[in-house]
Amino acid sequence: MLGLIQQEQQRQREQLQMIPSENYVSKDVLTAVGSVLMNKYSEGQPYKRYYQGNAIIDEIESLVKTRALEAFGLNPKDWGVNVQAMNGSIANLAVYLALLKPGDKLLSLKLYDGGHLSHGWQLPNGKKVSHTSLIFTPSYYSVDQKTQVLNYDQVKRTALQERPKMIISGGTSYPREIDHQKMRQVADEVGALYLADIAHEAGLVLAGVNKTPFPHAHIVTMTTRKTLRGPIGAMIFTHQENIRSINQSVFPGLQGGPQNHTIAGIGVALHEAMEPDFTIYAKQIITNAKTLTKELSNLGFTIVSGGTDKHLFLIDLRNKQISGKKAALVLEKANIIVNKNAIPSEPSSLWDPSGIRLGTPALTSRGMKETEMKKIASWINTVIDKYENTDVLTKVGQEVKDFALQFPVPGLDD
Ligand SMILES: Cc1ncc(COP(=O)(O)O)c(C=O)c1O
Repeated sequence: MLGLIQQEQQRQREQLQMIPSENYVSKDVLTAVGSVLMNKYSEGQPYKRYYQGNAIIDEIESLVKTRALEAFGLNPKDWGVNVQAMNGSIANLAVYLALLKPGDKLLSLKLYDGGHLSHGWQLPNGKKVSHTSLIFTPSYYSVDQKTQVLNYDQVKRTALQERPKMIISGGTSYPREIDHQKMRQVADEVGALYLADIAHEAGLVLAGVNKTPFPHAHIVTMTTRKTLRGPIGAMIFTHQENIRSINQSVFPGLQGGPQNHTIAGIGVALHEAMEPDFTIYAKQIITNAKTLTKELSNLGFTIVSGGTDKHLFLIDLRNKQISGKKAALVLEKANIIVNKNAIPSEPSSLWDPSGIRLGTPALTSRGMKETEMKKIASWINTVIDKYENTDVLTKVGQEVKDFALQFPVPGLDD
């Protein structure tokens, strides 16, 4: 096993990690997550545990909660936070189960347009892919067909038709900022709760470079592993009147003993994200993504919605005679790691979609800036243009590897 871990460490050094939901955690986060905290059972909340021996775990979890509220500028009198959900999908399910009744209607962004499975996704043929769509009744809003950006009048029209109990924003491949004020207005018009899932942009919101949902949302969920640069985990924020139901929904509703080591890792990541350097990092993530989209569109690539406001973007490959699946595979041969992705109004299938999704959090964590983005755009162009030529793929692969190795990997090389 240790040998395989070393191989994975080397892969993370040698390749360009451009999957926008991935990042590199710091050595301190790695230390916390690999610590003896995992030896302890701590069912319950700080200072209200079912087992003895939790004095230190209590201090840790309560410090993480305090940091979480401080990091997002929230008053603990008004807001509470749960840091125990194992990941973003469980966090979302915990929210629905706490605040809705089975069968209640959810309204969320369509998966093909950038939404997430855990927002109640079922296939157009009715197959209930996510259990959230089995327990609750899903309905979806879409991006505007022409601009590929959310049109809040359209969202409102859909909400008035569907009359959901909860409206969810956020997604896994929506490259634009969300107007949380408008989403809340729509929710208020139909008497729905508004859940802002900022899984992807949590770090950008914390740094103040993407819009905050907190003044508008009833509930905010987020994963901690993406732009926040923490471990695999999640946080659920809600007003004090709902926090007890949320806590009970996570434990005992869905989970047993919390992952204390992960919670400590989230605390370390929050501490790092409150340092002034993190704002510089978050700004650079966006500058890098914008540079890439500009370079790639100059090279003839179609960028969904014409660009990005954050850390991720989508390429629509239909003018390139290559599918998203094939593109992701040939880029991997050249040591550039991206994922295949549906594009809005996807004409093909989720398994062989027309797009790829790219992001800059991990590259930026390695210290790459605009100059490096221009080089990467040029390699992507060469690979997509000449993907049938294995010599080209091997040559670019070697160049990319030599290049990547010049940039230290946080947590491994510092
Ligand atoms: C918007 C959104 N919500 C929730 C999740 C789920 O997170 P996890 O993979 O931790 O379950 C994701 C993951 O990408 C996401 O993009």
